[in-house]
Amino acid sequence: MTRQADHKLRDAAFAALERSHAPYSGFPVGAALHARNGAVFQGCNVENASYGLGICAERVAVFSAVITGAGVFDCIAIATEAEEPSPPCGACLQVMAEFAPTELVVRSYCRNGAEACWKLGDLLPHPFTANLLATTGI
Ligand code: THU
Repeated sequence: MTRQADHKLRDAAFAALERSHAPYSGFPVGAALHARNGAVFQGCNVENASYGLGICAERVAVFSAVITGAGVFDCIAIATEAEEPSPPCGACLQVMAEFAPTELVVRSYCRNGAEACWKLGDLLPHPFTANLLATTGI
């Protein structure tokens, strides 16, 4: 992706953060997932008074992309209000691994300008994958 495209994706993640519903944690998160065909899918964390029902921004973005039938993803941008860049939680990494290649670039941005960049395969080197299901013989 070009630098300009990266900045656009970062801005889309911060725009998504503005939609966050995080009254219980006070930790708003925005995400923007980029498909190789240029499509962008936004997500924000959506919490609930029944705490366990909340969902992370990254998974909202991935599921939103899946419902459109979007193809191959190359980057996801995450935006938070934290002081240091926040990586996706383990559950979100597992969901990403279902739909994105290990080379997926994961960029995390803070309001203070701090940022980090990882590859999905480095954050989750051993995902649980569909081929393992086939090894039980059931
Ligand atoms: N959260 C995300 O949206 N993404 C992550 O990867 C980590 C955590 C949300 C979940 C919850 O609404 C809040 O941040 C605090 O954990």
